[in-house]
Amino acid sequence: MELLDYCRSLPKVELHAHLNGSLSDATVLKLLSAREQQDGDFLASAEVTIKRGHQRTLEECFQVFRILHSITDNLEAMQTITQDVIQEFAADNVKYLELRTTPKNIPNKMTKKEYMDTVLEATVEAMKKSNIRVCLLLSIDRARGVEDAWSTLQLAKEYLTHDVFGPLVCGLDVSGNPHSGDLKDYLPVLQEAQKCGLKLAVHLAEVSSDTETLTMLNSGLVDRIGHGTFIHPDAGGSKELHAVVRKQNLPLELCISSNIKSGTVKSACHHHLGFWKKENHPVVICTDDKGVFSTSLSEEFYLGAQTFHLSEGDLHSLCLNGVDAAFLPQVEKQKLRQEVQKDLDSLKGKLTCQ
Ligand code: IMP
Ligand code: ZN
Repeated sequence: MELLDYCRSLPKVELHAHLNGSLSDATVLKLLSAREQQDGDFLASAEVTIKRGHQRTLEECFQVFRILHSITDNLEAMQTITQDVIQEFAADNVKYLELRTTPKNIPNKMTKKEYMDTVLEATVEAMKKSNIRVCLLLSIDRARGVEDAWSTLQLAKEYLTHDVFGPLVCGLDVSGNPHSGDLKDYLPVLQEAQKCGLKLAVHLAEVSSDTETLTMLNSGLVDRIGHGTFIHPDAGGSKELHAVVRKQNLPLELCISSNIKSGTVKSACHHHLGFWKKENHPVVICTDDKGVFSTSLSEEFYLGAQTFHLSEGDLHSLCLNGVDAAFLPQVEKQKLRQEVQKDLDSLKGKLTCQ
């Protein structure tokens, strides 16, 4: 089997995918045409701004998110995008997906609770239709302030005791424009989240930010690192920072296309996957925003494999790393591991020599 087909066939685990950043062209077009009658000018400008897959600065990426949010600002759209995104990951042979999203309160349209209820209901429906297990992380957007973060945590806590949605809510994500706010202000919220049993995935060192990153890591609250682009010494990270990550053995969620297309990494061969792989540190390949960066999890595996000459064994280990780093209870994790291992065994020896 050729490498790209092989990557498509791998039983994959996706741990870092933002819902609104994961919209396919088909879904965006569906939403835009629903609005076409209402506002033609809006449609034209949105199409230009969203133009996917392009190299842009991190700031420009956040402008794209603003446009995307303006077309998903109602419950009907939220239901559509949740179902579409989950089905697309399932079609890419993703066996387990941790989807993250920022609950939003939009006056006269939806409360944060209605937003999340809709996402969770659509998730339950999508799981019935496809062979995929999905969990949700509620995102705290560092640009929205600490009050907003407290209310997101409150919402997550309410779900923990919910019969149907409880098992689907596994933790919190901290994301948003890394140039906005200071993560140390969010520590009390995250401490409370940990006390409630919520796992924490935090975007760290997406831009150079040693002090903030060290503060977060030394708090002992972080379960997984998103990106971690500027942690390793080759990218200017301090020895202390590198040592803390190694000591805590924290899995890194790596998103190659996202980093290249948003300009924080020069090219694939400069990506920190190479550094951490040499260190034998746990890393998981992820998409971040498959719509905005025009990619899929299979293509990210392919890009990583081509760039760093990954063997069949390396690719299998990457799939299993995803299982190990998942925010699932132990029993479910073991079940997932068995399923993934079974599929991996059936693929052994099928990769054509590169
Ligand atoms: P949502 O949370 O479903 O609305 O997904 C989009 C949001 O995810 C954006 O508005 C950001 O807050 C966050 N996000 C997506 N990609 C990134 C990233 O690379 N860095 C930081 N935050 C991100
Ligand atoms: Zn992200």
